[in-house]
Amino acid sequence: MRAAQVSKLEGPEAIEIVDIPEPVPYPGAVVIDVHAAGVAFPDVLMTRGLYQMKPELPFVVGGEVAGIVREAPADAHVRAGDRVLALTMLGNAMAEVALAPTQMVFALPENVSLEAGAGIIFNDLTVHFCLRNRGRLAAGETVLVHGAAGGVGTSTLRMAAALGAGRVIAVVSTEDKARVARANGATDVVLTDGWLAAVKELTGGRGVDIVLDPVGGDRFTDSLRSLARGGRLLVVGFTAGEIPTVKVNRLLLNNVEVVGAAWGEWVMSHPGYLQEQWAEVEPLLAAGKIAPPDPVLYPLDRAADAVASLDNRTATGKVVVTLR
Ligand SMILES: NC(=O)c1ccc[n+]([C@@H]2O[C@H](COP(=O)([O-])OP(=O)(O)OC[C@H]3O[C@@H](n4cnc5c(N)ncnc54)[C@H](OP(=O)(O)O)[C@@H]3O)[C@@H](O)[C@H]2O)c1
Repeated sequence: MRAAQVSKLEGPEAIEIVDIPEPVPYPGAVVIDVHAAGVAFPDVLMTRGLYQMKPELPFVVGGEVAGIVREAPADAHVRAGDRVLALTMLGNAMAEVALAPTQMVFALPENVSLEAGAGIIFNDLTVHFCLRNRGRLAAGETVLVHGAAGGVGTSTLRMAAALGAGRVIAVVSTEDKARVARANGATDVVLTDGWLAAVKELTGGRGVDIVLDPVGGDRFTDSLRSLARGGRLLVVGFTAGEIPTVKVNRLLLNNVEVVGAAWGEWVMSHPGYLQEQWAEVEPLLAAGKIAPPDPVLYPLDRAADAVASLDNRTATGKVVVTLR
């Protein structure tokens, strides 16, 4: 089968398209003919050996797929021919055939294409975890999201209202990304330059209830300043590179919280949680209450470019690699 493979840790540009044997199913595996695979920022980090998970070389890139079940265990909830989306759990996705554990495979709602389906699980369930579980989003609250035109960012814009937010403010670096943020459902969009003053003005000085931050870096302290009393700053990632520090007197003085939100860790330590999340998100997708992503598509031959677009900050929305 054809696959996008990393054999040296030299960044996205070193991803190669190779012919390798199809994977041999392990007990409990669902075999999927892959139509599309999602790209996420951890894929960038893994091409340099900088992510917490470091698979042995060579490895196949990507952690999520959508496709058609070729073969499933007899007691599985899916069977041959079903349209599904699945987590391969970081690695082994961008290939014509992928394996996923039964409990990480879900039937794709009929109204969602396979290309869009490949862009759902990783980001949407991260955002669901962030807002519902770690952020304790209450009805009508205001959510601000950094990197709002990125993968996690556009998921937040697509989902926040369906999960109860009254207002979703997008922070983006360019006018082009502002357009993407609006198209994905942002109530308000502000540019990174001067974002704090703009948000204070938008909220009449009150601030926001939740900041969802996949970016980190030097905007972190301003994120704390942007919170209303009782507000929560969700630490989701560090695409800016620098890991910020926090002076805890700021938390005390303004009654605000900084909350870590690592979805993968929670899923692995809480059996059944992923299925609970899907049971809540799937009906919202099927009913059109959460719009599916509208991904930027790259053919497998250009998998390196697809991953590089997240690395060089040109990606907008979810990026998906197509295999069939
Ligand atoms: N905690 C979790 O459970 C979890 C789960 C999934 C992903 N994540 C993390 O969330 C983060 C975002 O992932 P993603 O897939 O949404 O990435 P993405 O699609 O590449 O979006 C990231 C955004 O970060 C901003 N950014 C600021 N400085 C950047 C830089 N130097 N390089 C690249 N982007 C920069 C960009 O927005 P502007 O140009 O508008 O600033 C970009 O749109 C990653 O750190 C990822 O590891 C965490």
